[in-house]
Amino acid sequence: VEIDRFGMAFGSVEGGFGFVPAYSVLGGEVLCFEYWDFPNLSVVVPLVSVVLWFTGLSGSGKSSLAHCVEEKLHKRGCRTMVLDGDNVRHGLCGDLGFSDKDRKENLRRIGEMSKLFIEAGIMTLTAFISPFIEDRDKVRGLMPHGDFIEIFLDCSIGICEKRDVKGLYKKARKGEISSFTGVSSPYETPKNPDLVVHTGSLTLDESVDMVMDMLVDRGVIDNEN
Ligand code: ADX
Repeated sequence: VEIDRFGMAFGSVEGGFGFVPAYSVLGGEVLCFEYWDFPNLSVVVPLVSVVLWFTGLSGSGKSSLAHCVEEKLHKRGCRTMVLDGDNVRHGLCGDLGFSDKDRKENLRRIGEMSKLFIEAGIMTLTAFISPFIEDRDKVRGLMPHGDFIEIFLDCSIGICEKRDVKGLYKKARKGEISSFTGVSSPYETPKNPDLVVHTGSLTLDESVDMVMDMLVDRGVIDNEN
């Protein structure tokens, strides 16, 4: 089996076992040696991946964008996982609410989980408001340099509130929901995100293309064209 600098295993082998190096995607250093015992291998297997951390207000389009990017990555043979409120806040983080302390803990758990996923070679896409710079930076600090990619969905509160897909902004304005991000709880805009996507003015397809182009530019995926 050949391992390239992206930590991908190539080739078709009859079967075997042994230790293979897992690389940081951008850093290039060997992170660890993983024990593999594989019966047959004829596909490209990503060993170490990146976290695409989508952050922005409620209603800015994080989950939609993450799922569409996931679909594109899938078609390229990547193994992927989307973490969002639907699969995390009801289960692993079902005991947490929306106080500053609970959001911090929510993001700490998601960060640790993302780290495990990328170590398993799974491209991980997270879609959480993650309103505080400190919490996002902590997650960045868990990963090897360059493996945490912060994507800021820049969509004004006016547009998010107008969309109000879940009717939560209306409730928050009436005071029926407390500590609602953008209304009664702050959102700290990323100072130096890896990518800014203006989801208030771009179409979903345009937003997906921006993310995919950024991944090609960074050498995370190959340019198909
Ligand atoms: S985070 O701040 O901890 O990152 P998270 O992304 O998990 O938040 O959850 C945000 C989603 O929970 C929103 O899109 C909205 O549907 C719902 N929600 C319920 N209460 C609140 C609240 N007080 N503030 C923000 N979102 C809330």
